[in-house]
Formats: sequence, C-alpha cells, structure tokens
Amino acid sequence: MSFTYKETELFAEQCAVTELAKTHGTPLFVYSKAAITANWQQFSQHWPAPHKLCYAVKANSNLAVLNVLARLGAGFDIVSGGELARVLAAGGKAEDVVFSGVGKSHEEIAYALDQNIGCFNVESSAELERIQHIASEKGVVAPISLRVNPDVDAQTHPYIATGLKANKFGIAMGEALDVFRRGQALENLDMRGVDCHIGSQILTPQPFLDAADRMFNLIGTLREEGIQITHLDMGGGFGIPYQHEEKLEVSGYLQELQRRAKEIGNLTLMLEPGRAIVGNAGIMVTKVEYYKPGSEKNFLLVDAGMNDLLRPSLYNAYHDIVPVQRHQGVDEPLVDVVGPVCETGDFFGHARHLAAQEGDLLAVMNAGAYGFTMASNYNTRPRAAEVMVHGETASLIREREPLASLWQGEHVLGDDA
Ligand code: LLP
Repeated sequence: MSFTYKETELFAEQCAVTELAKTHGTPLFVYSKAAITANWQQFSQHWPAPHKLCYAVKANSNLAVLNVLARLGAGFDIVSGGELARVLAAGGKAEDVVFSGVGKSHEEIAYALDQNIGCFNVESSAELERIQHIASEKGVVAPISLRVNPDVDAQTHPYIATGLKANKFGIAMGEALDVFRRGQALENLDMRGVDCHIGSQILTPQPFLDAADRMFNLIGTLREEGIQITHLDMGGGFGIPYQHEEKLEVSGYLQELQRRAKEIGNLTLMLEPGRAIVGNAGIMVTKVEYYKPGSEKNFLLVDAGMNDLLRPSLYNAYHDIVPVQRHQGVDEPLVDVVGPVCETGDFFGHARHLAAQEGDLLAVMNAGAYGFTMASNYNTRPRAAEVMVHGETASLIREREPLASLWQGEHVLGDDA
C-alpha cells in the first residue's frame, strides 16, 4: 500500500514522512495519488459505461484530489453550490455532476441550472416544486431523480445511517409514486431516475442489495404506470477497514448489482463512493508536544486537534496511530493521544501502546476521507496544510492557513456604535 515503513521510517509512496513534515510543518494531511487512483480503478474496472461513478465530493474536496479524479473520468456527487464551484474549478464537467442534499437553496438550484448539471437528486415534494418554479423562470428543463428512502438498516453508526424511515433523508417509499406523478405533471422537470443512499461506512453488501431490490420494485411499478425511469443511483456508503474489520468486496457487489439491473433492462446504474476512494489514501501527521504521565492515565499531547480531524470526537471513530519513526526495543506505555483543544472530547485514540516523546511525529491513519473537509477553526486554530505525493514528488496542494486570514472579514464596532 501507499503508506509503509522502510526499515524504521514511514513513507508516503517514495517520500519520507519526516521530510514532508520538516518542509511543510504539522499538522499535515498527506495524500497518495497512487492510492486514490487504485481505489478509483477498483470501482471503475467493474463498472463499464454507460454506468457512471460520481465521487462524493464531501469526503475530500481539495482541488487536486478532484482534479486527479476528473482526469480518471469521474463524475461528482455534490451537496452544495460551493462543491459545484469546486468541481468546476478543478476541471470537472457540470454534466457529470449529480446534486444531492436535503436543503438546496434557491441560489444553489439556480446556479446548478445555469451550469447545466447532470441531475438533481430531489429529496422532497417541496424541493420538486421549487426546482420547477426556478426552471420555468429560466425557461429550461431540469433533469430530476427522486431520492427514495428504502427503509433498510445499514448497520452503521446512527449518525451516518440515512436509509431508515426515521431519517430526514429522501421520500418515503410509500409516497414515491405520488411524488413521481406530480413531477411528471410539471412542465420544466424531466423525471428520469431514482436514487437512494442508505448510510456510510457499510461493510457488507447485503444492505446495499436489499435496498437495490426495493428500488428495482419501485422502478417496476413506475414503468407499469408508463413512467420511463432510465437511471438508478445507489449512492455511496462503501466502508473501509479502520481497525480489524474485514474489507468490503466491492467487485462482487458491483457485478451482482449489474446482473440484477440487467433483468430489469434499460437501466443506467450510478454510484457515489466517497470514503472508499480517499479514506485510506490519506494520513494526518502530527507532532508530539508533551508527554504527560499520570497516576491514572498517560497522555501524549499532540499539535493536531479535533478541529483538524473530528471523527474520533464526533463518532468515537477508531483511527490507527503509528509512529513516523519506529523506535526498536523500547517500552510502549499505554497512552491517550489527545489534542490541545479545550474539550475532553478532543482525542484521537484512547489506551494505545505508543513510545513517543516531545518532538516525535505520529501518523493518524485513514484520514483521507472526512478529515480536512470536516476541519474547523475552533480555538482560532488555522487549518492544516495538505500535500499530495506521487512517487518521489510531493506537492503542496493547500497552504496552511495564515493566522490573520482567520479574522479577515471580521469588524470591530466603530467608536459611535
Ligand atoms: N451520497 C450521498 C447522498 C451521501 O450523503 C454520502 C455521504 C455519500 C454519497 C458518500 O458516502 P461514502 O461513500 O463516503 O460513505 N462524516 C461521516 C460520513 C458522512 C457521510 C455523509 N454522506 C464520517 O466521517 O464517517
């Protein structure tokens, strides 16, 4: 894989991580172009045209990442006007974009129509009416897919399960036919597809296949009504191993999905993988500031915080933490790896065996997805720099935020206020 030790030293492809940290400072996100490419090809090689793959931009939206994927022929799944602008800035094509999300604003819909995006994944009747209204004002026809909630249990963390009735996402299966009929009656909508997304970090094909069967049934019903559905977008959600989990066999699932779709006929399939493309293609490098032994617990205080990588704090997510420079034959005390932010929830790992002292570098693994994109400036901490390696070459793809930019646009009150 792309992050491996050569003797005692961690490398990102052919670049020594110590050198990257020396050049760019810490905390630092490091992505491997080879890993992103390999992950993408793992999907694309089992997904012949006309089927489409739309990378879920929210997982990692750095322009360089989007550009690598655009060059591999990726489409994009976006959830905001901002993400659309990023895709276009990175060289992606609007026609290859699908627009998901429960709360699309007037401005976002208008912008997406102006850019001629590939499809709106619509989540409610109210949204359908809104798109109709804006499209008719512009005198254009909007391509539409309805996001249906298949009500399957994805067996994942409740915060990232989205396919249950109790979630805010999508239109209930029982209402889908009515909403579709309504859409058909609206002049400026082209009702061409259905989509679903049942959750994230799913590690077995079964929930996906259950959801697919329900979607196939729906398509059958719609077609009986004379509504010609031509695409089915099964969303993303493909999990990756963070700890000891077994890897999801993507190829088997993709082939089975295509086999079942063929029975229905005349159906273009789409997927929106995010994490599976970038998750294991990135690490976060952080420096130990202090070792703080205690009677109950020992702490390694590092220079990255929950503002840089929120997943452990928000989902109690597990990420491997490894030394960038391995020390042989030394004791590895049990430590909590924690950040400098003033919250008890500011941690990266509890009870890890790690021998590290002030100045040492650690790598938090599998940080390529939902790492930088969920970063904030909490505690007035500038967001980290990002680097992409390719063989022996390392390119800075995002500069560390300059401190003063954090209050740019803020204003103190005038003397008379
Ligand atoms: N499509 C839709 C409509 C989505 O809502 C998502 C993710 C995806 C595709 C991509 O899912 P993926 O293939 O990456 O699982 N922040 C959380 C994950 C939130 C996922 C939200 N939706 C985390 O760090 O685990």
